Amino acid sequence: MTERAKTEVLISQHQIAVRVATLANEIAAALPKDMTIVSLLRGSFVFTADLIRALHAAGAQPQVEFMTLASYGRGTTSSGTVEIVRDMTESVEGRDVLIVDDILESGRTLTFARDLITGRGAKSVRIAVLLEKPGKRAVEIDADFVGFVVEDKFVVGYGLDYANRYRELPFIGVITA
Ligand code: IMP
Ligand code: MG
Repeated sequence: MTERAKTEVLISQHQIAVRVATLANEIAAALPKDMTIVSLLRGSFVFTADLIRALHAAGAQPQVEFMTLASYGRGTTSSGTVEIVRDMTESVEGRDVLIVDDILESGRTLTFARDLITGRGAKSVRIAVLLEKPGKRAVEIDADFVGFVVEDKFVVGYGLDYANRYRELPFIGVITA
């Protein structure tokens, strides 16, 4: 493999750990113990793994589901569509759901996920994102729980990728040339 571009730390491993613990406390206070987490793959798997352990420390006992969504046409058309690549396995009917995603940008992915889960009869649907980029929304949607608001730069690490690389970085970084 050729040498890949270097990265610069934007949010450190320690900053993430502190914030995730706080978020978990907020989530545990707002949702019933017996919530269903729907983690949107692939970007949110690292955040989800840390969040559920922090939720345990905060007294919650979540069920955990995974769903892979893909969005097309982002940035090129105004009507980017979202598709289910791999669905979750359990029913969300009557469940208090917390959708967990890596980053809220255009809002299309989370709008699709929220509407889908609502349509399947969830009792309540809340959204937690590690990162939010303001001013980039194509559809109006807000997350109930936000880890960090970041400026409009392409970020990688802690599950987030560039061309399916950099997910393993323990921090959130930006690619430097
Ligand atoms: P949107 O809110 O539907 O535009 O989609 C957000 C999705 O785009 C996220 O789940 C990420 O997979 C991806 N994404 C958006 N911004 C970034 C970034 O800065 N780094 C890595 N992935 C990103
Ligand atoms: Mg993603």
